[in-house]
Amino acid sequence: MDKQKIINEIAEKVRKAFKNEGSGHDWWHVYRVWKMAEYIGKKESADMFVVELAALLHDIADWKFHDGDDTIGPKKARELLTKHEVSEDVISHICEIIAIMAFKGAEVKTEMKTIEGKVVQDADRLDAIGAIGIGRAFTYGGYKNRPMYGPNKKPVLRQSKEEYFKSESSTINHFYEKLLLLKNRMNTKTAKEIAKGRHELMEMFLDRFFQEWEGEIYNY
Ligand code: ADP
Ligand code: NI
Repeated sequence: MDKQKIINEIAEKVRKAFKNEGSGHDWWHVYRVWKMAEYIGKKESADMFVVELAALLHDIADWKFHDGDDTIGPKKARELLTKHEVSEDVISHICEIIAIMAFKGAEVKTEMKTIEGKVVQDADRLDAIGAIGIGRAFTYGGYKNRPMYGPNKKPVLRQSKEEYFKSESSTINHFYEKLLLLKNRMNTKTAKEIAKGRHELMEMFLDRFFQEWEGEIYNY
């Protein structure tokens, strides 16, 4: 079994499947998660075949776009993987990772059981913070017709997947409801290190955002 060939073929299929995605869930998100997972996975001595395939397939059928049905992702992944020479052990490991993957609200714990799962989850979460994370949040907000910011609306930490799914809050609130919480949710030491700088950048961005909102003038 040529693992590299399988990875390349799956990557190509995923790239085609994600064409024309405008909500921030595009091929380039998958690509960044794949490369980041590769970097973290090597440092954390994970099984790279599982890591790379799970990273490539992690958003193949996101539950947010299927009325909250979170069984579609693993099903689609299994469908794709069985067409290649991938053992049942590896397939079920990848499907388990994909099933646990999606963040389901600030107070809902999603525990990854294996190092491979932890690595892919970290890579996905890292793509939601920092400069890319800021860009993705506003892209998603625009796609959902959400206001950038509403000064009178306080952020709410949601307790369940249903509440998170229904959320109508502003994009700036999303930073407080999710993005600023991710730094402390990284599983691996490698991701924690990377998250620090990205978190600081978001804090700087928010400071400036509120200053500019109030018309403050600064010269730095
Ligand atoms: P991921 O693919 O990283 O698991 P999600 O599916 O949760 O991410 O969301 C895709 C992107 O859209 C992320 O960057 C996330 O921060 C952003 N996003 C999700 N929900 C909102 C929201 N309510 N407001 C603004 N951005 C959001
Ligand atoms: Ni993702």
